Amino acid sequence: MTTQPSFLCHATSLREGQALSVVVEVSGARHDILIVNRNGAIYAYVNACPHQHTPLETFPGKFFDAEGNLLVCSTHGARFDPESGLCVSGPCEGKSLTKISLTERDGGLYARL
Ligand code: FES
Repeated sequence: MTTQPSFLCHATSLREGQALSVVVEVSGARHDILIVNRNGAIYAYVNACPHQHTPLETFPGKFFDAEGNLLVCSTHGARFDPESGLCVSGPCEGKSLTKISLTERDGGLYARL
């Protein structure tokens, strides 16, 4: 973990109900981070499914189920609550995505990685 927060993206990059992933390199380590805008709040998670640690998306920017309610892991179909990261169905039900604390400054989203 570094002392300086890393810039992830501009807060305006995410509209309500959207999710995106960003890859940030810190001290030679690669961090794949999933960022979600849901019900007026922004959440961030390590983009790794607790089942087999693959990134959730197969296609860039495709994170939600058909109804737009739950995050879906495209590898085996686990579904996650976007606000808590909890897996609510699938092979890792009851486990959670790893949450990352965000700070917002001057319109940018930052995290200590
Ligand atoms: S790796 Fe995500 S459900 Fe299996």
